[in-house]
Amino acid sequence: MARKKLRIGLIGYGFMGRTHSNAFHQAGRFFDLKYTPELIAVCGRDQANAEAHAANWGFSSIETDWRKLIERDDIDLIDIAAPNNVHHDIAIAAAEAGKMVMCEKPLGRNAAESQAMVAAVEKAGVANMVWYNYRRIPAITLAKQLIDAGKLGRIYHYRAKFLQDWTIADDLPQGGPGLWRLDADVAGSGVTGDLLAHCIDTAMWLNGPIDTVSGTTETFIKERMHSLTGNVAPVTIDDASLFMARFDNGSLATFEATRYARGHKALYTLEINGEHASISWDLHDLNRIEYFDHADESQMRGWRSIHVTDGDHPYMDKWWVPGLSIGYEHSFVHQFADFVASLSSKQPAMPNFRDALATDLVTDAVLKSAKSGKWENAHK
Ligand SMILES: NC(=O)c1ccc[n+]([C@@H]2O[C@H](COP(=O)([O-])OP(=O)(O)OC[C@H]3O[C@@H](n4cnc5c(N)ncnc54)[C@H](O)[C@@H]3O)[C@@H](O)[C@H]2O)c1
Repeated sequence: MARKKLRIGLIGYGFMGRTHSNAFHQAGRFFDLKYTPELIAVCGRDQANAEAHAANWGFSSIETDWRKLIERDDIDLIDIAAPNNVHHDIAIAAAEAGKMVMCEKPLGRNAAESQAMVAAVEKAGVANMVWYNYRRIPAITLAKQLIDAGKLGRIYHYRAKFLQDWTIADDLPQGGPGLWRLDADVAGSGVTGDLLAHCIDTAMWLNGPIDTVSGTTETFIKERMHSLTGNVAPVTIDDASLFMARFDNGSLATFEATRYARGHKALYTLEINGEHASISWDLHDLNRIEYFDHADESQMRGWRSIHVTDGDHPYMDKWWVPGLSIGYEHSFVHQFADFVASLSSKQPAMPNFRDALATDLVTDAVLKSAKSGKWENAHK
């Protein structure tokens, strides 16, 4: 049977624009998709950059205004890989035009924006998904399977960190291309919505909803030159964010993210401890989980290092031969392949907008707690 077409319009040709474009090509080559992705147009504000992206990745046209992209009737799916301040308007306009919408994380700059985006896609009844790609790293997916199978038993603890060091220099400007993450008007928040959002999405996927949080944040460098105005202006983002959490299932957690941990570039680590077993994972060694099972014979008991590259591990039968590693980019390929599969199965691709709203409710609660000094409800 002939495959249907999935005609894609991508917004943003930066870091994520590249990972998504790669995924659109690779997914159909490695997964048995029922739809053929067609790269119809890429949109960015700079025509020359958009043309360069289109030429490199095989998009057949470009747009420099996202509204024009949404008006086109030769596009089925709008994919948002632009900064956080434009997610809300683009997603709502795309949904109202009846397009499917995939959106980068965080869904909105805050939960109020995300709520409106959820309402728009649900009212329009269009397929939607948010690119929390770490769920699709096979080692993380395996952890989910082991937890869901009850191997860990009752969960007591969860801890996650996401550490970087790229904003330590005090002469680093804020705002504009490449530096919009330092401007809260564009980003919504600092590391809370950027890095902790990933940790929270994975945590809630593995361990269920978060009930309450108590957080603290710090902005270490108080003023920076703004690239767009040339003026020195207050820094409005959180440079570091730490919080404690209580999950609905009674377990306790700690989360930490910073861009001031000298030596760390993108160290995302997590650990979950249950009554029978524990799992830990480290993005720098992403094909591996460490697993401790108390049921093992006592003399042989210890942390097992499981290289998640065998044919019966999640997604791995689609790639090379057992034992060979895959990388960061494959998580996006998996996520796009799962999204396309959801179009025929009619099961929503996860995480959808509503799932991502739950993450934004937690990040809002962390920021609220950092101000109030109190524990805050993460469900509303
Ligand atoms: N899933 C992940 O692991 C991950 C990693 C990095 C970034 N992100 C998210 O992806 C999004 C983009 O981040 P990035 O690192 O690719 O940023 P980037 O700065 O590398 O690229 C942003 C792109 O958006 C374009 N853009 C900005 N404003 C626009 C507008 N009004 N109309 C059209 N295009 C516009 C820019 O020209 C650029 O091409 C953000 O929401 C970010 O939080 C997710």
